[in-house]
Amino acid sequence: MDPFDPAEDPRGFRRALGAFATGVTVVTADSPEGPVGITANSFASVSLDPPLVLWMPARDSARFALFERSEKFAIHVLHRDQREVCDAFTRDRAAFDGLDWAPDDDGVPRIAGCLARFECRHHATHEGGDHLIIVGRVVRAAAREGLPLLFQGGRFVSLHG
Ligand SMILES: Cc1cc2nc3c(=O)[nH]c(=O)nc-3n(C[C@H](O)[C@H](O)[C@H](O)COP(=O)(O)O)c2cc1C
Repeated sequence: MDPFDPAEDPRGFRRALGAFATGVTVVTADSPEGPVGITANSFASVSLDPPLVLWMPARDSARFALFERSEKFAIHVLHRDQREVCDAFTRDRAAFDGLDWAPDDDGVPRIAGCLARFECRHHATHEGGDHLIIVGRVVRAAAREGLPLLFQGGRFVSLHG
């Protein structure tokens, strides 16, 4: 492993970051355009007390303004069988047609079949370079047993169990 300066080798930097295996989430919100979603692997747990989580939308995303302003949002941890849900919200922010979902009392879409869901209220945002760090306070959580969709090295990988 030869060390390098990420500023001089952005592709190498991206490759090195991709070594870190993550789950995959879909973040949903209500918006002036109606229900929206985005596939995101930038999810992380932050704090147990108070219950805080974070995710990071890219500033150059066409969806950025919709999520930057959302006071309420839901983060869905995808099951390994939900690759289609992942792909749909990678391509299209309004990919709800044909999906099993329903709005909660605040209009935030809840997608069925996920491993876990965190219903959040805006808590804080922090500067994060070309991304924005959005911290949510979790007001309701749900989870079930199962295997996750995993992303590593720029591709989807399987856990066997
Ligand atoms: C596995 C995976 C993880 C992603 N994670 C993020 C993320 O954390 N933040 C983000 O802004 N976009 C992320 N994306 C990209 C968005 O899902 C989506 O493709 C992108 O926003 C499309 O561009 P648009 O918003 O301009 O339409 C991810 C895509 C994939 C496939």
